[in-house]
Amino acid sequence: MHIHPSILSADFANLEKDLGTISSADAVHVDVMDNHFVPNLTFGTQMVGRLQEVSPIPLDVHLMIENVDDYGPKYAELGVASVTFHIEASKNPLELIKAIRSNGSKVAVAVKPNTPLSEIENLYSKIDMLLVMTVEPGFGGQPLLENTLAKVSEASRAISERGMRIRLQVDGGITPGNISRIAKLGADTFVAGSSVFGSEDRHEQITKLRSLAHNLG
Ligand code: DX5
Ligand code: ZN
Repeated sequence: MHIHPSILSADFANLEKDLGTISSADAVHVDVMDNHFVPNLTFGTQMVGRLQEVSPIPLDVHLMIENVDDYGPKYAELGVASVTFHIEASKNPLELIKAIRSNGSKVAVAVKPNTPLSEIENLYSKIDMLLVMTVEPGFGGQPLLENTLAKVSEASRAISERGMRIRLQVDGGITPGNISRIAKLGADTFVAGSSVFGSEDRHEQITKLRSLAHNLG
């Protein structure tokens, strides 16, 4: 069970310091937004490149941008552990996956709440991780959309039926109150922004989320 705190909820004036407060996590989730694919604007390649240089843990870069076919490979070039793109934004997902991989990063594909898994049917054998969004992308701190959970179960079944080793990530509204339930549906990688950065002791919160996901909490 992997916990990926999202730095969208960190203090943008103190990112290096905040990265130190989550160093017990499995990776840091970096939300890249372009104000077109989603109505919010965050980081570009220069910023992500610096985060990659100073982060004590691997970077899981979640691209919420249009033109991802052109820009996605540039994030992989920075040496980040994984690059996630949205199926809704890519015109040529197979080529994009190849380009990200050849630049050295693992690849994940993301689906928004209203996008069916049939859209990524041909990609299972090509990806390392599938991200099922549990909120509409764009902002931290939103409540989890219950109607996305059927898709988490469906994705888990699709992965095991194919016998593939693909991580199943969920992103949006993950809290200590719902993580066990979502882990039982088959998710194994949990993005948590406000529930980690809003805690006084972030290491303790990461440990708690991980234990609850393992059903040990
Ligand atoms: C939303 C982002 C998420 C966000 C999650 O568009 O993709 O990664 O930071 O934040 P919380 O955990 O607060 O819902
Ligand atoms: Zn995200």
